[in-house]
Amino acid sequence: MTQTPASFLPFVKPEIDEETIAGVVDVLRSGWITTGPQNQAFEAALSEYCGGRPVRTFNSGTATLEIGLRIAGVGAGDEVITTPASWVSTSNVIYEVGATPVFADIDPVTRNIDLDKLEAAITPKTKAIIPVFLTGLPVDMDRLYTIARQHKLRVIEDAAQAFGSSWNGKRIGAIGDIVSFSFHANKNLTSIEGGALVLNNEDEAELARKYRLQGITRTGHDGMDCDVLGGKYNLTDVAARVGLGQLKHIERFTEQRRKLAHAYFTGFEGSAAVTLGVGLPVADMSNSNWHMFQITLPLDRLTISRAEFMEQLKQRGIGSGVHYPAIHLFTLYRERGFTDGMFPHAEQLGKTTLTLPLFTQMSVADVARVCRAIDEICTQYAK
Ligand SMILES: Cc1ncc(COP(=O)(O)O)c(C=O)c1O
Repeated sequence: MTQTPASFLPFVKPEIDEETIAGVVDVLRSGWITTGPQNQAFEAALSEYCGGRPVRTFNSGTATLEIGLRIAGVGAGDEVITTPASWVSTSNVIYEVGATPVFADIDPVTRNIDLDKLEAAITPKTKAIIPVFLTGLPVDMDRLYTIARQHKLRVIEDAAQAFGSSWNGKRIGAIGDIVSFSFHANKNLTSIEGGALVLNNEDEAELARKYRLQGITRTGHDGMDCDVLGGKYNLTDVAARVGLGQLKHIERFTEQRRKLAHAYFTGFEGSAAVTLGVGLPVADMSNSNWHMFQITLPLDRLTISRAEFMEQLKQRGIGSGVHYPAIHLFTLYRERGFTDGMFPHAEQLGKTTLTLPLFTQMSVADVARVCRAIDEICTQYAK
């Protein structure tokens, strides 16, 4: 294995302040460490952030998607339209609830689901849509909800990567139908692992609470009942305390990420890499929370593969990642009838995408270093 330099720049790193660390210690000493007062406080703070809408916390952004589908009444025989360019949990949950995922290809510019293709994929069996806001960039929300209303479809927004994003001045989470956030370690707001569902009313919130923990209510025989088939998806108070500590900084986090994204665009302007064909994301500086900065590699014009490119970055002390290979080409999906060539834009993105370092404690000088390294590698390995 190659040695990595001491000043290694990872592609992601959470920022947890000392107050949060002390807060976690307090929770650990409090005598109540699973779901309790910290979760209540986290839900209240998230609800306030989302314009007063009801919020329920969960132990992952996969659980929130699955329960979001259940609350929307999606089940066996239903179709749910989503994008093949996402983390596989986006569509795995559709199978989990007994429904069928129907993919619509992405728009190669935004890299999000193409809304024309989404509309064309609607059938009488379509019950819901799961749009994904990849890297924190929302889809055209006005158009999305016009389509949803016209076809009477529920929307479960996969906003796993979009905490802190907005749509024309309105926060993601404060608008829309059911909204699903992930607080996984790499997300802009983390609770180590975790997630939250933003719901439309108290009935949905109560159903979410029941699905979260075995369907239990405090009424019924012997002071307890179970009236829906719930699971075990509750968030610990230790995790909720981390999330609460993060929420305090979310505006600063987003601002810093936008500043770094801007520095990437400046760094790549007129660069050898871009001249060679490195692709840049949409330069959205108002809606996106810049969860990730992803370029696409012109592999047909390079003598090295993406894996070798990543190794070259690593040798220069720079981490990178791949988010994500197209879902429909995974074995499970191939076994269910999906094949190469069905969604060419998502396939091309999956093969060429590369996530560059972006986290709040990075500097503009770090960004410049990454851009220089990419230029150097592209120049060295150009065909
Ligand atoms: C787009 C998207 N959807 C869903 C998830 C699932 O979230 P979690 O890892 O919290 O289950 C993720 C997490 O990476 C994601 O990026």
